[in-house]
Amino acid sequence: MEIEYEIREVFELLKSQIRMHRDIGMDPPFLSPEGLRAFKYNPDVEKPSISHSMAEDPALSLESLRTTIGDCQRCKLSKKRTHIVFGEGSPLARLVFVGEAPGREEDVAGRPFVGEAGKLLTRIIQNGIGLNREDVYICNVIKCRPPNNRDPEQDEIETCIPFLKEQIRIIRPEVICVLGRVAGRSLLGGDFKITNERGRWHSYMDIPLMPTYHPAYIVRNPSQENRLKRDVWEDVKKIMKVLGLEVKRNV
Ligand code: URA
Repeated sequence: MEIEYEIREVFELLKSQIRMHRDIGMDPPFLSPEGLRAFKYNPDVEKPSISHSMAEDPALSLESLRTTIGDCQRCKLSKKRTHIVFGEGSPLARLVFVGEAPGREEDVAGRPFVGEAGKLLTRIIQNGIGLNREDVYICNVIKCRPPNNRDPEQDEIETCIPFLKEQIRIIRPEVICVLGRVAGRSLLGGDFKITNERGRWHSYMDIPLMPTYHPAYIVRNPSQENRLKRDVWEDVKKIMKVLGLEVKRNV
């Protein structure tokens, strides 16, 4: 059992590395199909027998992806970060939330959405949607904190987004909820404006995607809090409908 687990892990790691090399435009690693084709097939060599399915295990694949990211130095944000904030939640989540980038608390904790905005997001998930935080998956476009919480720059987004794409491909949720302008623009491109696009269905990697306001925007605008929360609740109800979740209350 132990050896089978290790074999699966090696396969997942290889698959993840091959995809990553492709996404970031590098030459294929030696053990990619391209690399292996350099070897001549020898039919006399006994085929390995692997007794159970090699179908992808999302938990293992996420672990492998985290291993691939390693102690990332791919962009300048690595210089000042404390922790890489990979993401957390269920590898089988039906709903994935995508934020912008870690803030100060997240950088210290190494976990997404644990500060003030995170507390609001947790209330939306638990009191609004009626799920536990652990039932969904929460991650960001950027895995390292931009200094002074400035907006991520284009080169940082381009460097980091293949990892988010891979997380979404592995989890393949039924719905993605993007939080705010930066996440919306990073995934959907163009001149995405959160005020125009929130509450409308979009699609990313053929998965329904709903943009809504970033909880930090609500926290920073107490004078508009009631209106913004009402709007978020309208967006969340649309997500719940697609997921077949019962709306029990108006929050
Ligand atoms: N804001 C984000 O976009 N992500 C976090 O993880 C925390 C705050």
